[in-house]
Amino acid sequence: MKPTINIGIIGFGTVGCGALKILQENKDAIELKVGSSICVKRIADIDIERKRPVQYDPAILTTDAYQIINDPEIDIVVELIGGVNPAGKFILDAIKNGKQIVSANKELIAREGHGLLLEAGKRKQDFFFEASVGGGIPIIRPLKICLAGNRIEEIIGIVNGTTNFILTKMAQEGRDFGEVLAQAQSLGYAEADPTNDVEGHDAAYKIAILASIAFNSRVNVQEVYREGITKLSERDMSYARELGYCVKLLAIAKQHNGSMEIRVHPAFLPQSHPLASVNDVYNGIFVRGDAVGDVMFYGQGAGPMAAGSAVVGDIIDVARDINCGATGRICCTCFEDKAALSMDDVIAKYYIRMQTADQPGVLAGIASIFGENEVSIASVLQKGRGENGEAEIVWITHEVRELNFRTALDAIAKLPVVAQVSNWIRVED
Ligand SMILES: NC(=O)c1ccc[n+]([C@@H]2O[C@H](COP(=O)([O-])OP(=O)(O)OC[C@H]3O[C@@H](n4cnc5c(N)ncnc54)[C@H](OP(=O)(O)O)[C@@H]3O)[C@@H](O)[C@H]2O)c1
Repeated sequence: MKPTINIGIIGFGTVGCGALKILQENKDAIELKVGSSICVKRIADIDIERKRPVQYDPAILTTDAYQIINDPEIDIVVELIGGVNPAGKFILDAIKNGKQIVSANKELIAREGHGLLLEAGKRKQDFFFEASVGGGIPIIRPLKICLAGNRIEEIIGIVNGTTNFILTKMAQEGRDFGEVLAQAQSLGYAEADPTNDVEGHDAAYKIAILASIAFNSRVNVQEVYREGITKLSERDMSYARELGYCVKLLAIAKQHNGSMEIRVHPAFLPQSHPLASVNDVYNGIFVRGDAVGDVMFYGQGAGPMAAGSAVVGDIIDVARDINCGATGRICCTCFEDKAALSMDDVIAKYYIRMQTADQPGVLAGIASIFGENEVSIASVLQKGRGENGEAEIVWITHEVRELNFRTALDAIAKLPVVAQVSNWIRVED
């Protein structure tokens, strides 16, 4: 047992402050769990003048991350700056210096995690990143440990709180995307530049990480099919409600014989699905394993204390490993090389909303193109004349290969009686 385990935190922002606060407030219990005293020896940040909402000794602050990375007394380096550079270099140099690593950095883990994990594993060092997906929700350790005996068949997650807040408000208050985004920004739930969240990049990083662990095969983030929520209208939300669905931004990973299907997009989800009740900024992750069946994880996906909780959990786990001489115990498990399925070959159901001429024969003409492409229809809803004397038709298909669906839709959009295909959304049953 080491009497004291020294930590260096790089990045004293939202999560850095949360983690430090938890280490201070729960110090006694944490140290009893570990069997050592936990000392935050140094904290690095670009700006060390700004006041933080946590107590700290200004003498431990530095602007030079290498005062942590090169300090022989520091056991655990906690990277909380985000982004790929220089975070990746800091972590690699810290691993080479024999440090155990804790990080919350989804973008770095999704893009370069494989190499860094191999590097840490080679040296029998820990590299934990629980906060990188689901904030405070335990999901990485459950996949790596508790569910390790399963063949994971699918993961469906609501893993981005900002978009979930926007979609919840659009559905509950009948407001459009732009209006709710502005509210989310004023409440601090969305960034001034919301692209990373609303275009699905953040969710793509997270599902790439989860799928890599679940399917034992590295998922490159470029292989994740991605669509954001910006094209959703209040009208789509209202049809979803009428048809017994809600609309969520889903991060989906499924494995089929030797291949993986990884995608992020808005989807109609039945109101009876366990994820349908995950609202506001909350996250939920649904996992299906061949042995365990269905399990679901729910909680706060962001925030200083929620993400800090996951970071401190990792610190405690590393500290225990140090005390048992067991670091490097959980290493990279990407021992297979599965191909990513093309979206053309994905099988899904679809919702389509279109404006057409309001005249006899229109439905039959469209249905015949669907039929020629093997798209069979589960239900059709036609609303009366719109402002221009047009009809609005909503279709829900049965399961069909995406290439067939898109081919049919391209042909339908060219029909003279079709004024516009306003939107189409996958349906996840
Ligand atoms: N916020 C959440 O709820 C949450 C949840 C889960 C995971 N995460 C992840 O946690 C990480 C940190 O997020 P955060 O929200 O805490 O970010 P943040 O509030 O922006 O904090 C990052 C801090 O790191 C500092 N920094 C940037 N580059 C640095 C460098 N080269 N050397 C030293 N310090 C540097 C920043 O300083 P300046 O501000 O001066 O640039 C800032 O104080 C990210 O990877 C994020 O994805 C966040």
